[in-house]
Amino acid sequence: MSESRLILALDVYERERALEIAECTAEYLWAIKINWPLIIGSGLKIITELKQVTGLPIIADVKLADIPNTNRLIARKVFEAGADYIIAHGFVGRDSVEAVMELGETIIVVEMSHPGAKEFIQPVTEGLIELANELESFGVIAPATRPERVEYIRSKLKPGIRVITPGVGAQGGKAEEVIRAGADYIIVGRSIYGSENPRESARRIFEEIEGVV
Ligand code: C5P
Repeated sequence: MSESRLILALDVYERERALEIAECTAEYLWAIKINWPLIIGSGLKIITELKQVTGLPIIADVKLADIPNTNRLIARKVFEAGADYIIAHGFVGRDSVEAVMELGETIIVVEMSHPGAKEFIQPVTEGLIELANELESFGVIAPATRPERVEYIRSKLKPGIRVITPGVGAQGGKAEEVIRAGADYIIVGRSIYGSENPRESARRIFEEIEGVV
């Protein structure tokens, strides 16, 4: 089995449910992404527990968007809790992103996957790509719901900066299409954790990605 390019967005509140889903899908994942729902529901200690149960990297999607000092205060605690990557917004400016990058691997949001992203984020994507290139972040977040945008963002990014795309499944994006467009990793939440058989759903998406040549 080749290395997975699938990231599970584990957006549930309850610790037990999160650990159960993580454990049964881990075989098909590259990493687990946690967001505010799980942090609010189960506390930051869930990061350590997820790592113990799965051995996978943890991406903390806290979408930091504050002044450098506040970003630093939050990022420090999240990295200390065991997160391997933090997702931060770029629109707040270089200094705010740098404050996070000084503490650990950072993924910058350059465009979002929901319809409202067209209003304010898409018009500034160009500048956010430039920021990611200059800072050489681990990766960027791009929308799986718009493969043509993924292709464009990939073409403008320095090689080596990973393109990570949420929006597959529940939001309408197709895994195969977005991998062909140049995504390195895809993020899937509801289509896995909300399905009757999360393990089977993860396996199916893993195989869909693996089948793309
Ligand atoms: O359930 P679903 O597959 O739509 O989950 C997508 C995950 O990715 C959610 O955690 C969402 O907050 C996150 N996300 C997104 N679009 C972005 C950035 C993050 O959907 N641009």
